[in-house]
Amino acid sequence: MNTLRHDTPYRPSTDARLHRASRPREYNQGICRALSAGPDVPSTDGPDNLESWRGNDVSPRRGKVSLVGAGPGDPELLTLRAVRRISAADALVYDNLVGDGILDLARRDATRIYVGKRAGNHALPQEDINHLLVELAAKGLKVVRLKGGDPFIFGRGGEEMEDLVRAGIDCEIVPGITAASGMAAATGIPLTHRDHSQTVLFTTGHLRDGTLNLDWDALARPHQTVVIYMGLGALEIICRELLAHGLPADTPAAVVHAATTPRQRIVTSPLHALPEATRDAKLGTPSLIVVGHVVSLHELAAALPALAACSA
Ligand SMILES: C[S@@+](CC[C@H](N)C(=O)[O-])C[C@H]1O[C@@H](n2cnc3c(N)ncnc32)[C@H](O)[C@@H]1O
Repeated sequence: MNTLRHDTPYRPSTDARLHRASRPREYNQGICRALSAGPDVPSTDGPDNLESWRGNDVSPRRGKVSLVGAGPGDPELLTLRAVRRISAADALVYDNLVGDGILDLARRDATRIYVGKRAGNHALPQEDINHLLVELAAKGLKVVRLKGGDPFIFGRGGEEMEDLVRAGIDCEIVPGITAASGMAAATGIPLTHRDHSQTVLFTTGHLRDGTLNLDWDALARPHQTVVIYMGLGALEIICRELLAHGLPADTPAAVVHAATTPRQRIVTSPLHALPEATRDAKLGTPSLIVVGHVVSLHELAAALPALAACSA
């Protein structure tokens, strides 16, 4: 049987090996530490292998993966369950959008493995992350996969869950406050309001091959709020299409950067002028685009001491 021993260096057993050259150094070091720390258990290439291991007399500690929503940035917006899972974890696999201070809740001896994108580095491919989670849990470790916001909202939590379940790994999902909810509370822009908006839509503005194929007719309906994740790079296209599909030029709109964190900034503008206002304010990622009459409430709420000082 193919076993991982304490003294065996980590060898990815699938196509993960192909991407080794692009991995951040912390990633490789983290994996080696994590895999050499756990009990001596077989590697798992799929449920069959895992089942045969479970049938053995040897019964090492069972590993588990918790897909944990880290919320929009402010550590106080973590759920109690998220705090419990983070502080009990043997290994934490995290990326860019996990707010400052959240990893400090982990045990000092827990392994932290960064799989995100930093200047000059590519993010670890999703298949490699899935594979890593399986490998760590198969070693008997309590693994926390920390994700910004909610794991099931534009967070690829579904893909990770699918692979874990297929590999026979115990897994749970701990929901988090999604960026739109955090932004709403931190800017005083309610997502729904009986006088302004009866529907809220979350959509992605991520460009594919320079284009964005969204259901513009649905997004441009009146009396609703549209929140666009990952849309900053497509802001001009988004505003142009919404106007072309019937939203009035003076529809209130906003871009909110780093909501709930000390770096939060907001630009509000009529829809037609939003790209220019956002460029002038030099807002970068992470940012949300919000379109709808609820944005007009921000000005009123900005008088509240807790919400002051976030305008760009
Ligand atoms: C890959 S998606 C992850 C969304 C996350 N799972 C959630 O539920 O919030 C990343 C995008 O979320 C948005 N985002 C995440 N955190 C944010 C924040 N604190 N402020 C503004 N936008 C944020 C940005 O649009 C960013 O590009």
